[in-house]
Amino acid sequence: MRTQVAIIGSGPSGLLLGQLLTNAGIDNVILERATKAHVLERIRAGVLEEGMCDLLDEAGAGARMRAEGLAHEGIDLAFDGRRHRIDLAGLTDGKKVMVYGQTEVTQDLMDKREQTGGVSVYEAANVAPHDFDGASPFVTFDKDGVTQRLDCDFIAGCDGYHGIARKSAPASVLKTYERVYPFGWLGIIAEVAPVNHELIYANHPRGFALCSMRSTTRSRYYVQVPLEEKIEDWPDDRFWDELRLRLPAATAERVSTGPSVEKSIAPLRSFVAEPLRFGRLFLVGDAGHIVPPTGAKGLNLAASDVRYLFDALGEFYGEGSQAGLDAYSQRALNRIWKAERFSWWMTTLMHRFPDTGAFGQKIQEAELDYLVHSRAASTSLAENYVGLPY
Ligand code: FAD
Ligand code: DHB
Repeated sequence: MRTQVAIIGSGPSGLLLGQLLTNAGIDNVILERATKAHVLERIRAGVLEEGMCDLLDEAGAGARMRAEGLAHEGIDLAFDGRRHRIDLAGLTDGKKVMVYGQTEVTQDLMDKREQTGGVSVYEAANVAPHDFDGASPFVTFDKDGVTQRLDCDFIAGCDGYHGIARKSAPASVLKTYERVYPFGWLGIIAEVAPVNHELIYANHPRGFALCSMRSTTRSRYYVQVPLEEKIEDWPDDRFWDELRLRLPAATAERVSTGPSVEKSIAPLRSFVAEPLRFGRLFLVGDAGHIVPPTGAKGLNLAASDVRYLFDALGEFYGEGSQAGLDAYSQRALNRIWKAERFSWWMTTLMHRFPDTGAFGQKIQEAELDYLVHSRAASTSLAENYVGLPY
């Protein structure tokens, strides 16, 4: 089998890159380890920056997001028993974010791929990139017990943090930067109306809490928990009690509760691999970097990587120019490190750390108080939250 761009991974990065390439007449094949259903079941991100929404439109997969997504113009920060609104739109010349779940983005991109005849191989086992340091790379994989070979011009590693692409990069060149946080997020989804029409990020001595949503009838809530916490120890009642304890009393009273339809614990990590290009192999999205979820940057960073790589591949096939490909890693990393900084800062500001005690709590409350009363500080939060320019 031969294609122009072999894409490893059918998450949002692989699907978005694949669709933009297909629309531009650049042949591509996606190789995905899991089943289609498994990819669709993973509940993850929920907030899209405008740059990502525009890219979905450009891919021809934005119609349902525009119709059903919820455009948000602000967020609330809660601390010391009070809530304060950050006017994202007012502080950023009208920029908004879109609340639309990653599962829906993935579904829309998969539907579009099917409509436009894109080739995806699901349940591809033992995917392995080869010879990407030369001019004729290829990818091998096993499908239904038979080993196959996909020859290509380029390989896009869109296979997430645990994928094979980064692991295939030469250890002598790859440098990684990492911070692991001593807590995770316990998240649930419930078919109840959200407590507020916008998101609430809460700092509380018992730990961080986030009130988010997937629609006006579907709520997404998170509470910070120690890493060693077990999901079995969190029946729904305990979750709702803990959530309400961490919100200002007037807000807690208004939380609608109901049975959870999803419940999971996610660890928090900051991670960056450098560079993001190894000859004809490129790392895209979570394959190259992870942010802690505070600030909702993970999926949005995957989208900006796709923008840069798609433009570079377009230049290569359209004009025969290597310049975009040569610049990809540095361009992407410039934006990645700024989002890493923002996500780390917001995580540090909002969570309870085991070693900082009551002093740490007071410092956080002072910073939050400064933040919500200083237009300069609020603007800095707002422009990062809505997304820095591509
Ligand atoms: P993924 O979505 O990880 O997709 C990679 C794909 O590659 C997967 O389908 C995988 O099965 C496939 N794959 C892996 N290995 C191989 C292989 N060897 N061969 C073939 N295929 C392979 N971000 C936010 O902004 N907000 C959130 O609330 C949030 N919550 C998250 C919760 C969890 C548990 C996780 C893990 C991430 C969360 N994120 C969140 C981050 C966000 O979901 C990711 O940034 C986003 O999924 C990145 O997309 P991706 O396509 O790069 O990678
Ligand atoms: C969601 C997740 C986030 O990390 C965040 O900052 C906002 C919203 C969510 O899943 O809805």
